[in-house]
Amino acid sequence: MDRSLLPLFAVLLSPWTAVGDPEGPAPVDGAPPSKIAVVGAGIGGSATAHFLRQHFGPEVQVDVFEKGEVGGRLATVTVNHNDYESGGSIIHSLNLHMQEFVKQLGLKYRRSIAGKTAVFNGKEMILEETDWYLLDLFRLWWRYGISFIRLQMWVEEIMEKFMRIYKYQAHGYAFSSVEELLDSLGGSGFINMTRRPLSDSLLELGVSQRFIDEVIAPVMRVNYRQNVSIPAFIGAVSLAGAQNNLWAVEGGNKLVCSGLLKIANANLRQAQVNAISPVQSGEALQYQLSFTTAARTGSELYDIVVLATPLQGSVGSGVQFQGFSPPFNQLPGNYHSTVATIVHGYLNTSFFGFPDPRLFPFASILTTETPDLFFNSVASVCPVNISTGFRRKQPQEAGVYKVFSPQPLDKSQLKTLFRSYYSVQVTEWQPYSHYGSSQGLPPVELHSNLYYLNGIEWAGSAMEMSSVAAKNIALLAYHRWNRQTDMVDQRDLMHRIKTEL
Ligand SMILES: Cc1cc2nc3c(=O)[nH]c(=O)nc-3n(C[C@H](O)[C@H](O)[C@H](O)COP(=O)(O)OP(=O)(O)OC[C@H]3O[C@@H](n4cnc5c(N)ncnc54)[C@H](O)[C@@H]3O)c2cc1C
Ligand SMILES: *[C@@H]1O[C@H](CO)[C@@H](O)[C@H](O)[C@H]1NC(C)=O
Ligand SMILES: *[C@@H]1O[C@H](CO)[C@@H](O)[C@H](O)[C@H]1NC(C)=O
Ligand SMILES: *[C@@H]1O[C@H](CO)[C@@H](O)[C@H](O)[C@H]1NC(C)=O
Ligand SMILES: *[C@@H]1O[C@H](CO)[C@@H](O)[C@H](O)[C@H]1NC(C)=O
Repeated sequence: MDRSLLPLFAVLLSPWTAVGDPEGPAPVDGAPPSKIAVVGAGIGGSATAHFLRQHFGPEVQVDVFEKGEVGGRLATVTVNHNDYESGGSIIHSLNLHMQEFVKQLGLKYRRSIAGKTAVFNGKEMILEETDWYLLDLFRLWWRYGISFIRLQMWVEEIMEKFMRIYKYQAHGYAFSSVEELLDSLGGSGFINMTRRPLSDSLLELGVSQRFIDEVIAPVMRVNYRQNVSIPAFIGAVSLAGAQNNLWAVEGGNKLVCSGLLKIANANLRQAQVNAISPVQSGEALQYQLSFTTAARTGSELYDIVVLATPLQGSVGSGVQFQGFSPPFNQLPGNYHSTVATIVHGYLNTSFFGFPDPRLFPFASILTTETPDLFFNSVASVCPVNISTGFRRKQPQEAGVYKVFSPQPLDKSQLKTLFRSYYSVQVTEWQPYSHYGSSQGLPPVELHSNLYYLNGIEWAGSAMEMSSVAAKNIALLAYHRWNRQTDMVDQRDLMHRIKTEL
């Protein structure tokens, strides 16, 4: 089904022109920046450090502040001597920045172990994957008719447009806002898709309500722990992720973050940034970052600052903006929590209508929007290191399962889902974007040389989205510093790029 994207690949694989060459045009008004700070060492911050190094060259000092663990929402937990992804776990084959990082860092792709998926409605399985792809297609066709094809075409068209970003970025073009970026890829249609519910877009497309309830809703529940009122753009991005061709990083996805910091030659500073304020001395504008480490509080001046952590909402990053005029404080949006529970034990297959576990053929169970279901999904998971002899545990054996739920599971809920268990590890992910704000998308440029990465999450929250935003901010910071206005927010880029080649 990805065949239509092949010509696009051919285009993408044509020689990319080097951009942001540090030996390129000299800054109009003097020196390069000497110090840059990035706040957050998730995939967004680590990729930003890497791209900043590429564009600004070897001299500039790049400090990356991290209050917790490198990797952020890419994290693992250990069960029985093996590590398992507890946050971002799946990467799509069209995620070209992530692929490039893995290649550059010499990391390996983790083998994926086949496993079947089913959809549970609280009483029974309403959709069951089989061994045979054609049969599944036929069943989908039988049950949902044209909806399935319409959806696939819609997602492909969006992906194809979205992938223009790689060409634009390879040619060095940057965007000053998420709106400008989306507009250049898919016109006002893309921007509108960040504002309207997924269900509206799909119904308008002619996708049936039944298909939305039985297929789309379960995918949104597992990917975003939210319902089909999620903005259409985010929905489309995660539906692409529901197709095949998915992979992960051997040893854990967070290895990409530590690897990028290393090749960027960035200084990792284990500290929480508490406040940022502008400091004007003569012509020069700098930013003072105040931070606390385990041992002390301190502050330091930087020429450019990139905030690579969600800022919005009540939870936020704890960063205060001081002395900005006009003042800016709260950015729009709010967050909801999601809980990942990793259980080592025996799945209660009776709960899903299979009293004999040996007859239970599924590795992942998604769920429909059902009021009294206390979980969104449960799946048998593979460790981040897969040896050649590895096989997935059968349901009659003790295995490692990941359950996503809106609230932590209580004992009786665990006893319902599992016949018995050895261990339970809970990761409460907070904050996590709750989409569907009507206030518009958050800004990328907060101040002259102060940038915000995670506004991109309003258009989609995924490793690749943070990576795309990281590349954009590195380019934007570089062009702004060097006053190259002709590389920012340019129109008609598809045409311009053709004539540049
Ligand atoms: C349960 C779950 C499942 C997911 N599944 C997938 C998936 O399958 N595929 C996919 O592509 N994406 C997935 N995602 C989304 C993906 O994980 C995120 O989009 C991505 O990791 C975000 O990276 P980031 O660097 O932008 O933000 P983060 O990873 O949140 O990084 C921000 C960092 O900033 C640090 N920080 C915050 N404030 C401060 C401060 N004041 N001072 C210093 N440091 C600070 C934080 O500690 C954190 O490390 C999932 C997310 C979750 C939670
Ligand atoms: C997006 O919305 C605007 C305003 O509602 C409208 O004018 C425009 O035609 C829409 N674009 C598309 C492609 O639907
Ligand atoms: C989805 O959830 C939101 C609140 O999180 C709610 O307002 C909305 O009505 C729900 N939509 C559907 C279709 O269930
Ligand atoms: C897991 O894989 C990573 C990356 O290949 C490797 O560095 C690490 O040593 C492996 N760990 C184990 C326990 O095999
Ligand atoms: C398993 O599920 C069945 C059916 O919902 C339930 O009756 C039982 O209490 C559950 N727990 C165990 C430990 O079997």
